[in-house]
Formats: sequence, structure tokens, C-alpha cells
Amino acid sequence: MLKKKAIPFILFFTATLTLLGSGTNMENNKNSSKIESLLHQMTLEEKVGQLVQYSGTEPTGPTGETINVVEKIKKGKVGSLLNVIGIKKIRKMQNIAVKQSRLGIPLIFALDIIHGYKTIFPVPLAMASSWDMDAIEKASRIAAIEATASGIQWTFAPMVDIARDPRWGRIVEGAGSDPFLGAAVAKAQVKGFQGKNLAHAKTVLACAKHYIGYGASMAGRDYNNVDMSNRTLWEIYMPPFQAAIDAGVGTIMSSFNDINGIPMTGNKELLNIVLRNKLGFKGFVVSDWNSVAEMISHGYAENRYQAAERALDAGLDMDMVSDVYSQELAKLFKNKQITMEQIDNSVRKVLQAKFDVGLFADPFMYFNEKEGKPLVLKKKHRDASRDVAKKSIVLLKNDKNLLPLDKSIKTIALIGPLANNKKDLLGPWHAQGNSKPVVTIMQGIKKAVPNTKILYSKGCEINTANTDLFKEAVEAAKKADVIIAAVGEAKDMSAEAHSRADLDLPGVQKQLLKELKKTGKPIVVVLMNGRPLTINWTKNNIPAILETWFLGTEAGNAIADVLFGDYNPSGKLTVSFPHAVGQIPIFYNHRRVGRPHLGPDDENQFVSKYIDIPNDPLFPFGYGLSYTTFEYSDVNLSKKIITTEETITATVSITNTGKIKGKETAQLYIHDLYASVTQPIKKLIGFKQIILNPGETEKVSFNIKPSDLEMYNQAMEKVVEPGKFEVYIGTNSEDVKTAGFTVSEN
Ligand code: NOJ
Repeated sequence: MLKKKAIPFILFFTATLTLLGSGTNMENNKNSSKIESLLHQMTLEEKVGQLVQYSGTEPTGPTGETINVVEKIKKGKVGSLLNVIGIKKIRKMQNIAVKQSRLGIPLIFALDIIHGYKTIFPVPLAMASSWDMDAIEKASRIAAIEATASGIQWTFAPMVDIARDPRWGRIVEGAGSDPFLGAAVAKAQVKGFQGKNLAHAKTVLACAKHYIGYGASMAGRDYNNVDMSNRTLWEIYMPPFQAAIDAGVGTIMSSFNDINGIPMTGNKELLNIVLRNKLGFKGFVVSDWNSVAEMISHGYAENRYQAAERALDAGLDMDMVSDVYSQELAKLFKNKQITMEQIDNSVRKVLQAKFDVGLFADPFMYFNEKEGKPLVLKKKHRDASRDVAKKSIVLLKNDKNLLPLDKSIKTIALIGPLANNKKDLLGPWHAQGNSKPVVTIMQGIKKAVPNTKILYSKGCEINTANTDLFKEAVEAAKKADVIIAAVGEAKDMSAEAHSRADLDLPGVQKQLLKELKKTGKPIVVVLMNGRPLTINWTKNNIPAILETWFLGTEAGNAIADVLFGDYNPSGKLTVSFPHAVGQIPIFYNHRRVGRPHLGPDDENQFVSKYIDIPNDPLFPFGYGLSYTTFEYSDVNLSKKIITTEETITATVSITNTGKIKGKETAQLYIHDLYASVTQPIKKLIGFKQIILNPGETEKVSFNIKPSDLEMYNQAMEKVVEPGKFEVYIGTNSEDVKTAGFTVSEN
């Protein structure tokens, strides 16, 4: 039964069902008058309620005392729930909100859908390695279809934090280290999640997180301080957020960290002024888990009362789980420390989002079990997962073309703790994905080469000191024609709260590889990990290495596709692999220095270098081999001199010089040689993917626009400074062809 007072409201909104959500201005205006009328009816407590989010029974952060959420929903004191899983439970809560609270305002249900809901896609760092924006958009689209079919309207994704430090476990959740690529991926993900019409039942509200600087947590330790120049903030960390906002992202999550001493949850300048006025964000901002209260631990607020005031004043609209808003905002208002206008502003944005996703039109449209179930884990979804999974694999090494393996191979020794493993292949943050449908490497290989004998031995655990299984593994290896060793990290060694200081293969896995090598058999290492690892020994001693990250539900099939040549690998790293932890942070787009080290032959003492390891990474940004080879011609420029307003075209011819068809990602970098602020030695400003048959040549052209040449000057204005530029086009950030041009005064 509807409560009497709720009836007029429900009728009011269902009567307008056909008008909602198509996003025209007229309709938005109608919604805004509805929002105003609703605001008019709401009590202070109900308004505050819209700014409060609680977690369901599957917490994703530290928990405190239990709150009677049902009672609160009945009183209109909850705006959103996260981590409530399953349509039945979600429907129950929504029923209470809509039918038992005074105004019947629907709840919005949120979950971390990071790389798939039930059909699990590769972890984001892997998907970014595909450099395939269509495939990435599709993965987010499918995640949205499955999540909404299960009652979710809001995902805490994409994570668009730039990460230059592989010690930071959350590097796995993002697109890697580059702002340009990060921006492209952010846009694709937002488009995929939100679709063309958010009010559609199969689209999900996205949340760009974590705003901002979180990826620069000092020393790679999660939740640590961030000390960052304004320049680095704008050049490196902002672009993906700007891209997400330009793509229409509905919400943004503030990050746990402080920046230069001010916690982001209470950072008025960055949250309010910059985010709203400079970046043009119109949606609402949610805190991270408990981060409003954590401003007390930061030493930025003395108590919860002050934390609430600081957060609201900074422009933080919704409080995730800390319960601080719920307890303090009304008091703050009564004490005249915050205004009704401030509260209304935040409530307005939350209600707007609920309108946008269609919750007012039909609060139950997301809860159709009959329609929902068949939408999950469909073959089509699994096929898409396999497709992007194979494209995410990076071939790091392939001496003497050991790969692809011949399908007529007689015996394979399949060794390693990840060879017959399901659960770790899902990677971290796998929403409702479970291990049952995961295809193991063993299963993938058996399907690809049914006539080959597979000798499996686990060899060791992922992260223990026990070597008891070595003997059996070596015995198997001795009997085989080739060894495939699947080694790496467990799925819970990366992601939130999983920073590592040692980035070598965990446990005794390197030792296992050493024992296997002694057999003299050819070895293919299949790596699985959520971050770059310091795999010097492996690089120097193992002839073939595939970086497969965590590829999700279809991992085993995708890996077999690449191992046996059904797919020619095309992935490229989006983050540099260091030789040693001591090199971190290591990134290709660093600025020039006064005493550069000019390479291995430069023996000068007083130059910027280490005395014990090289400056170069183990594998550079953009790196990834193919089973074929590509040759780049010299770069041809359409002009030698341009004005600051002109576009210049850079062209190369790329030839497939190998024996099989392959896909290449041509990368375009720019270097502003002399400027009023020192510039990166290279920065990515474009990329294109082409597929070439053996012997085929294709011209690849890039238009370099004035905006591609822009830099922040000393006054932090974006300008094109006249002077000399160099263009680089190549197969990775180090292996490039070069040409120069000049930008003249107009
Ligand atoms: C904390 C994480 O930092 C954030 O990314 C996530 O969305 C929330 N917990 C909710 O699970």
C-alpha cells in the first residue's frame, strides 16, 4: 500500500513518463520545475537524506557501527545505497523508499563495476593496452547492460587516475601513465556506460574517479599524501577528468588523498571552483568511502561537525557511508554555519541525476528479473570479452619466433600457479563475476590444440616459499617439446590497499623459472599481473614473454588465441616497466634536464644517471611486439613552417615486412624544443591502428592542430609558443622516426 502522502507525488511523476529522459532542453526545464517543486515540499532532514549514501552488506571499505538503514529510508533520510546486490534486495529497498517514505523519492543504487558485471572483461590497465577505443567502449556498454539488468543504476567507474608508479596497487584500475591516452579511454568508457540516453533502462550513470591526484600517492603507498605542482596537475592528471566531463559523465568521486596539504574531500578550490567553473562539470560529487570523516584523521577537521561543514562548503554533494552529513548538516544549518542554498544546490544535483537515469519515470524499471537474467553472461558478451582480451595481450619478447606455437606440437608442459587457475584470472574488482565460467589457460589450450598432450604441474603457489612442487614440474618439463609457464601475481595483490614495494615475481616463481630453464627446453612465459613488474631475469633468460594482465572470463581462450597464432598480438604497454624499483617513478614523457645522459655510450660522470642501473625502462611506454614486423618510412611533413594557427600533416608509410597479417598502433609524439617552460622530451598526441597483410604498405597521416602544440606557459595559460618542434612517429615511445618544423610568429 502506498502511504497516503506519497500518492500525489507518484502520480505526478508516472503521469509524465513519456516526457522524461530524452534530454531536450524543454524536458530538462520541466524536470527542473519538478525538482524545484520537490525541494519546496522537502523538510531539512529529507533534503539532507538525499546527500547520504550507505553501504549494503558487502562493504568495500572499513566498517563502523551498524545503521538501521531501512528505518532511515522510511524517514526519507537516505538518497543512495551502494553494495546492495541482487534484484530482490534492491527492489525491496526501492519499495520502501518509494512506497513508505513521505515523498517517495527513489533511491539510486551504486556498485563498483570496473571491468564487467558478470561477464568479466580484462582489468582496465589491460584493456587500455589494446589502444582500441571501440572495444573499450563496448566493454563498458556490456557492463552497463548486465549491471542495469541486475538493478544497478550507477557505477563507480571509470577510474581515470593517471598512474606513474607501479607500486601503487590501483594502477590496475586505470589506463596507465599517459594523459592523452587516459583521456581517450575515459571518453570511451563514459560513452559506453552512459550510452546515448541515460534514461534508457540499459545505461548506467558513470562516475569519474578519484578526483584528483590520487595516482600520485607518495611512494606508491595507497592513501598517502600527494604533493604536486599545479603544472603537473594540469598537464598530467586533469586531462582524463576533462575528457570524462566533456563526454557527459554524470558524477565525480573525490579522492582520499590530500593535495599539497588539503584533503580532496574538503578542497574547495579544486572541487568547487576548478571542477565547476574551469572543467565545466554539472553533475554531483560523491565522496570516497568514509572520506568525509577521514578529514579528521588528516588533521583538517577537528570533529565530524567541522568535517561536514568543510566538505559541503567545498562542493562535496554526497557523503559515502561516513554518516557525517546525516548527523551534522542539519545542526550546521540551524547554527547558521551553512545555508539552505548550499544544501539545496547539492540536493538539486542529486535529484537531477535521478531524473536523468529515469528513476522518477519508473523507479522499478531496472528490476525486471525475467528480462534481466538472460542479459547476463550471454554468448555475445563473452565473445566481446574474448575479443578485447586477445587485443589486450602484449608480446614482450619473442626470440627466434618461438611464438606462435605450431598447432601440431606433440607435448606441452603447462606449469605454474596461474596455469590452471580460475579465480585470479578475474583480476581485482570483479563485481559479480565469479570464477565458475572463467576459462583457464589449461582449458583454453586444450580447446585450441585438442590433439596435443598437456603435462600440467602447478610448480609452486603464487606467493609462498615452498618449493616442494618444483621436482614434479621439472619432470613434466623434461618430457615436453615446449614449456608454457603461467606466473605472476594473485588477483588481490593489486587494486585498493594493495601497494607493493618489491615488484619482482612474488614467492618462488622466479626460482621455478630458473629450474625450468635448466631443462634446456624452450619456454614461453605467460605473465599475469595488475602492474608492471621488475622482470629483468625473465627478460634476459626466457625467449618468449606474453604480458596477459588479468583478462577476465575468457582469459584462457584469449591466451590460447595468441599462443597458437589465431590472433597476432597487437597490445602496447600504456605504462613503462622499470628495471628496478629504484627507478620509480619512471615515465617516458619527462622533461629535459641540464645534464642529460645521452645513452649507454655516454660515460660522463656528471650527468643525470644511476651508477648501478640504466636510465631506460625495461620496456618502454607504447611497446609491444607482433608476430610480424612493421617498417616505418621517414616522416613527411606537409610544411616546414606554420603559424600558431595552422595545422600541419605528418605522414609515414608503414609496411608489413613479415610473413603474416598484423595490426599496428602507430604512435605520434611531439616535442616543443625550446619554450618558456621546459617541455617533456616527447608527449603522445595521437595514435592510429592499421591492419596490414604481408608485404602491404599503408600511408598513415596525422593532422597536428594548434591545440596539439599547446603548452601551459608560466602564467598557466594554454598557448602555442613559436619555435622549433619535433614530431616522432613510431611503434613505441622509443623506436620512432623524426622530422622537425618551425612555428613562426603570426
Ligand atoms: C573506495 C574506493 O576508493 C572507490 O574507488 C570505490 O568506488 C569505493 N570504495 C566504493 O566501493
